[in-house]
Amino acid sequence: MNLTLWILAVGWTFVALWVPFIIYTNRKTHPRALFVLFFAEMWERFSYYGMRALLVLYMTKVLFVDMAQSAAEIKSYAIYGSYTAMVYLFPVLGGLVADKYLGFRNTIIWGGFLMVLGHFALGFQAFGDLEGNMPMFFGALALIIIGNGFFKPNVSSFLGEFYETDDPRKDGAFSIFYMGVNIGSFLSILTCGYVGQNINWHYGFGLAGIGMLIGLLVFWLFAKGFGDKGLMPEEVKTGEVKIFGVKPSVVVITLSLVAIPICALMLNLNEVMSTLLLVISIGIIGYIVYHALKSENKAEGQRLLVVVVLFFFHAVFWALFEQAGGSLTIFIEKNVDRSFLGTVLPASIFQSFNPLFIILLAPLFSWMWLRLNKSGKEPSTPMKFVLGLSLLAFGFAIIVLGAKFFPDQQGLVSVVFVALMYLFHTMGELSLSPVGLSMVTKLSPAKIVGFVMGAWFLSISIGNKLAGWIGALTASESVAEGAHPTETLSIYANTYLVWGVLVVSGAALLLLLLVPILRKWMNGIH
Ligand code: PHE
Repeated sequence: MNLTLWILAVGWTFVALWVPFIIYTNRKTHPRALFVLFFAEMWERFSYYGMRALLVLYMTKVLFVDMAQSAAEIKSYAIYGSYTAMVYLFPVLGGLVADKYLGFRNTIIWGGFLMVLGHFALGFQAFGDLEGNMPMFFGALALIIIGNGFFKPNVSSFLGEFYETDDPRKDGAFSIFYMGVNIGSFLSILTCGYVGQNINWHYGFGLAGIGMLIGLLVFWLFAKGFGDKGLMPEEVKTGEVKIFGVKPSVVVITLSLVAIPICALMLNLNEVMSTLLLVISIGIIGYIVYHALKSENKAEGQRLLVVVVLFFFHAVFWALFEQAGGSLTIFIEKNVDRSFLGTVLPASIFQSFNPLFIILLAPLFSWMWLRLNKSGKEPSTPMKFVLGLSLLAFGFAIIVLGAKFFPDQQGLVSVVFVALMYLFHTMGELSLSPVGLSMVTKLSPAKIVGFVMGAWFLSISIGNKLAGWIGALTASESVAEGAHPTETLSIYANTYLVWGVLVVSGAALLLLLLVPILRKWMNGIH
């Protein structure tokens, strides 16, 4: 059995033992809904990340195989960039629909259904002469984008409903939920990646679809036991609310279907996409600020402003954190000693450090917040963001240290520095990301929580776009192709020093100065 298969088997076995253990130890602290949403989101993320692991490879190796290599790569990256940007853009609409018209339950089910269709469409391209059929391929991506917009943000918002607004268990609940996210991504990167690359691309995509189907079924079956939570607003159910005289559900379904070809087309318009993202972000942030300022309830308005301020720091965090999928992986490929037990590991495998650390540490963080809360020492949300940014900067400092002072004669850095860096990045992520989701559910007025959550996802979208831009800084033209590692080393070290260490710690410092104001604006919420 080869090494990849071993890692796969160990990964699945570990998860199969770890998840029941976590559920068992937390069953008395948290409501059952946490575990249902955990499973639904775990499979949704399995499908999303499994498909993502294959996407660029499939495009460069199959879909655009007739093009020149570099042209195919440039095109694939552009499509990939627009795809991820749209994936985190649509949640704004998905959140709005849940708030105003369909309620969380129906919206999540509709989104999950569209995602299943999308993944299966990619899977079905294995048959007949559908391979390389462009309209089908882009249509499938569009289905996933739109479906995800209805599904993903609403699962997070829905989780918030099962706790009182300022429930001390909330951040902990989101940490456990976040573990579900990462179990899904961990397993799928290993599994769909393996199946897709070694057996058949489309079986890999199809497997992602099966994951999503399981997630959908779990949610559909168990959500029935959620009492009156997440149902359609009363005035929609009674038929009072109409959009242009038509039932809202009919409008949502029709518009979703109309959006498919438009989205599919947009995937190929990279420049338009960047501009659109900017315009929409300004519009949405502007709207939230406007809503906050004109709000009659002053506390409510100020709370929303806290979300807006943290939005920007959240984007900075992801812009650097997401180097993992880009420049850091290339850095590892070129400048890290990857030999292990006589084989040289592929650079992409190192990306699984992050979900693995999350899976191990999330229960610890969940427990720690609750513990600190009991002794009155739990940091406030903005303070946790400061902590998250600081840990991220510290992680980059470790890799800079390794690259500047401890490379071997060939210009290779030990994997120990990589592991330590990812450990700190992961602790940073746990201090910030689940806490951010939890915060949105605490600080938004109940009526627009879905919408604000969607807007929150926009900062991820912006962060990912910025990440591509920062990553490109490491691809210096002055370094010829096939350059010796000693030449590339300093480019990486300097870029990470400036952006990863200095800019991020600067952001942390700035936020630290803002903490007192933000705490005041939170008006009593922790
Ligand atoms: N890894 C996280 C996830 O897939 C990234 C993320 C955080 C996305 C917060 C959206 C919001 O869930």
